[in-house]
Amino acid sequence: MQFRDLTRQYQALRPAIDEAVASCMASGAFIQGDPVVKLEQQLAQYVGTDHCVSCANGTDALLLALKVWHIGPGDAVFVPDFTFFASAEVVAAQGATPIFVEVDPRTFNLDPAALERRIATVKEQGQLRPRAIIAVDLFGQPADFGRIGAIAEREQLLVLEDGAQGFGGAIGQRRACSFGHIATTSFFPAKPLGCYGDGGALFTNNAEWAAHARSLAQHGRGLSKYEHNAIGLNSRLDTLQAAILSVKLKAFQNSELQAVNHFASLYTNLLDGAVLTPYLPQGFSSSWAQYTVLFASTAQRDAAKLRMAQAGIPTMIYYPSPMHLQPVFAHLPVDEGLTSGWGRIKVCLSLPIHPYLTDDEVAHVCSTLKQAIND
Ligand SMILES: Cc1ncc(COP(=O)(O)O)c(C=O)c1O
Repeated sequence: MQFRDLTRQYQALRPAIDEAVASCMASGAFIQGDPVVKLEQQLAQYVGTDHCVSCANGTDALLLALKVWHIGPGDAVFVPDFTFFASAEVVAAQGATPIFVEVDPRTFNLDPAALERRIATVKEQGQLRPRAIIAVDLFGQPADFGRIGAIAEREQLLVLEDGAQGFGGAIGQRRACSFGHIATTSFFPAKPLGCYGDGGALFTNNAEWAAHARSLAQHGRGLSKYEHNAIGLNSRLDTLQAAILSVKLKAFQNSELQAVNHFASLYTNLLDGAVLTPYLPQGFSSSWAQYTVLFASTAQRDAAKLRMAQAGIPTMIYYPSPMHLQPVFAHLPVDEGLTSGWGRIKVCLSLPIHPYLTDDEVAHVCSTLKQAIND
């Protein structure tokens, strides 16, 4: 069994993907070819924003957003303590200061009450200027954008939705990657919508920001190719990846999102009472980038992980360390809330999840996990 079986996906989509790749090879337009333009339109339509700007990866997409907003030294950006490193890395890369905020252990997403406390502290200390909130849609579930948006409005902060894992999730009828003032996603192969290499995109309803991001992604280019208005990046999505993503987006919409939700529900039913299963608040839906459960202790989690590995079941610890314990952030002050917040989620384990599992495989994972707990 594979943790995320991309080979099964390729076998299922092979004729359409092979045709898209062959057509791209025949066109010779490997950089910024028609498939890139077409994909951006498809993505904006799916997500429900006016603009989509594709780029080389999800990290660059976040960086482009911060650059568009001129976030830099002296600025405070609020980031969940429990996320992939890139969410915080981009803040520091811009010379700004990430302020870590604990997550809700039931949703793994930014805790709005803790966010309010942390904003108040930064304002009280008066050393940094609060500028933005990066709210991550961790494991496929949108953050609580209702409450986060209200806080941002009151505090006049910008909201950047890091939807690297969130593409396909929703709150009510509104889809992930449409919630922030700017939202971003990643097409890393294992993401809910993944390509066959690196890729990313930025979404917004603000035409000026979209044009600025597009320019920055192409060396800050002006109206002509060799006129440069800003220091930017070389961050383009390959035409080949765009062509592949258009095929995958269709499958994602037609069957994959539904399939992955089926397997997540099956896990939740079968694991009920054995471990703490993921919690989706009313009206929220997930694209299940990960299916992550909480054990009673790290010892119990580690024993179950070992038992599953022996049975040929791959599992992952997403994530073994929160941001405030990363060596590169050791100079930042640690709030007591971060320590206790981490204590509640460091018992996590992510189980195999993808749209091409079978019911039998999910049942096998669950029975092995339960056996490990009961032994
Ligand atoms: C939450 C989050 N943000 C940002 C990224 C960065 O995306 P990429 O790997 O495409 O640069 C990732 C990728 O793992 C992620 O999970």
